[in-house]
Amino acid sequence: MRIIKTKDYDDMSRKAAAIIAAQVVFKPDCVLGLATGSTPIGTYENLVKAYQNGDLDFSRVKSVNLDEYRGLPKENDQSYYYFMQDHLFRHVNIDPGNTYLPDGTDADSDKACREYEAIISGLGGQDLQLLGLGHNGHIGFNEPNDVFDKVTHCVDLTERTIEANKRFFASAEEVPRQAYTMGIGTIMQAKKILVVVSGKDKAQIVKDAFFGPVTPRVPASILQMHPDVTVVADADALSLV
Ligand code: F6R
Repeated sequence: MRIIKTKDYDDMSRKAAAIIAAQVVFKPDCVLGLATGSTPIGTYENLVKAYQNGDLDFSRVKSVNLDEYRGLPKENDQSYYYFMQDHLFRHVNIDPGNTYLPDGTDADSDKACREYEAIISGLGGQDLQLLGLGHNGHIGFNEPNDVFDKVTHCVDLTERTIEANKRFFASAEEVPRQAYTMGIGTIMQAKKILVVVSGKDKAQIVKDAFFGPVTPRVPASILQMHPDVTVVADADALSLV
């Protein structure tokens, strides 16, 4: 595991974008695993800038997102589909037919998850998977558990995650209670993994996840077992290590 310490959030965002840009330059038809949440927003902004400057071409890139809320239609501005359009896809020349997220509108969760897992394996897996880190160590929506869930599955969100996400909704009641998420196995099959982390509020979980024991109680700790993980974290997030 490589840890890159950055001055602050902006510095983290530029460095993370540079790593993703390098992946696209090296392999123009790569499969990017993408994340939502607040942390990667600056990373996407920098990728859009690089595209606008003529330095990046997404025309052959394929993308698979980590997760999607169950039951939110694409046009809902809190769906992860909407987030990706808003922060990246509509600003670059990626082919919309090459961008994939779990289908949150499919009420048949077994079918939706099976189909999504098949899409990812059909593409040959992720060349680079971008991840944020939840305060409880979740990656994707893989919450602390007794076991590491392997493949794409439907999860009940924890009270803590609902609480953390309610800032985006009119009230906590409107936050969906379930989501479809890549499993830990789906994430771990990526050839490279890039984790972005920022802020003092993430310092304790950075310490637990990357310097503590590997346990499904801290799902991100499994990343210690992956052969090619880069964590780009700002000084605040690394303040306890
Ligand atoms: C996003 C995702 C989540 C977030 C995590 C951190 O697709 O799957 O695991 O990466 O909740 O969120 P932020 O960046 O908002 O702190």
